[in-house]
Amino acid sequence: MYLNNHASQAGHSVQSTQAETIVRIEGLSKVYESGFQALKNVDLEIRRGEIFALLGPNGAGKTTLISIICGLVNPSSGTVHVDGHHILHDYRAARSKIGLVPQELTTDAFETVWSTVTLSRGLFGKRSNPAHIEKVLKDLTLWDKRNNKLMTLSGGMKRRVLIAKALSHEPQVLFLDEPTAGVDVELRRDMWNVVAALRASGVTIILTTHYIEEAEEMADRVGVINNGEIVLVEGKNELMRKLGSKQLTLHLPEKLSQLPPHLAQHQLEIADDGHELVYTYDAQGEDAGIANLLADLNQAGIHFTDLQTRQSSLEEIFVNLVKERS
Ligand SMILES: Nc1ncnc2c1ncn2[C@@H]1O[C@H](COP(=O)(O)OP(=O)(O)OP(=O)(O)O)[C@@H](O)[C@H]1O
Ligand SMILES: [Mg+2]
Repeated sequence: MYLNNHASQAGHSVQSTQAETIVRIEGLSKVYESGFQALKNVDLEIRRGEIFALLGPNGAGKTTLISIICGLVNPSSGTVHVDGHHILHDYRAARSKIGLVPQELTTDAFETVWSTVTLSRGLFGKRSNPAHIEKVLKDLTLWDKRNNKLMTLSGGMKRRVLIAKALSHEPQVLFLDEPTAGVDVELRRDMWNVVAALRASGVTIILTTHYIEEAEEMADRVGVINNGEIVLVEGKNELMRKLGSKQLTLHLPEKLSQLPPHLAQHQLEIADDGHELVYTYDAQGEDAGIANLLADLNQAGIHFTDLQTRQSSLEEIFVNLVKERS
């Protein structure tokens, strides 16, 4: 029951024994028929057994990249090998290694869960294996729904069916394109557990996401893509340490027009026309900064009625990253 492990296994760094490359992308470019260049000379290596999060704003090229690796979109130039198999010259072998959970929810409304997942395995020319399908459905808590038509499932269950389909042929590499877009917090947690358990069973996972906490929770390494270019690939912990920041907003009952001098050592800004103090701090840092700040505020006679914390979003981190690089 490999899916019963805990999410705490996710995010541990990949051991050096697993550093072998499983997906090798070299000089990959894509110009769509419209003339739009969606990928520009992308080089990227995915390591066997890791969880790799591909981050980037809308339209960055994430789905295009995944679609090329999975053989749904033709590259304009460059090469991709999956477990040593060239994705064009050795398409069937390469594709058989891959499971894809697509971004768009498309399911055959009138099929049952069981038949759609079984059929999916058949499409890869794999011999039927009801025991495997049963295990996948049980692990994804879909077993009770196996005879349901897909149209009778909730959105979250449909997403699980997509994962079950992607796992039906026992892939070594699983692509998850925005697996948790628009799903509730609880289901997102469940998904994380599923992904963590898959990784523990040896599957390499590449996921795209807009949620920084998802990358933070799950990924061993993170790649940032913007305008069709990979602008950064780094260990998750490194990236979070360098780029993640949090904000603490204090609501002030009395308008503050100027910061008292002895608060200058803190990263403070006055906002909302003097009715808010915004403190920015390192997301990975300790809380000592906040304790000191609160003590200093108290001493300065500055009171607050309410406080909120906020983590910088991917967009903000991303904007900072792009700014830094230009
Ligand atoms: N079939 C197509 N023809 C022309 N342009 C396309 C096509 N598919 C995608 N594009 C363009 O390529 C760019 C990258 O799209 P892609 O779907 O790869 O982005 P993405 O990073 O997955 O974005 P999102 O986060 O919104 O899913 C976009 O500008 C998109 O409009
Ligand atoms: Mg996409």
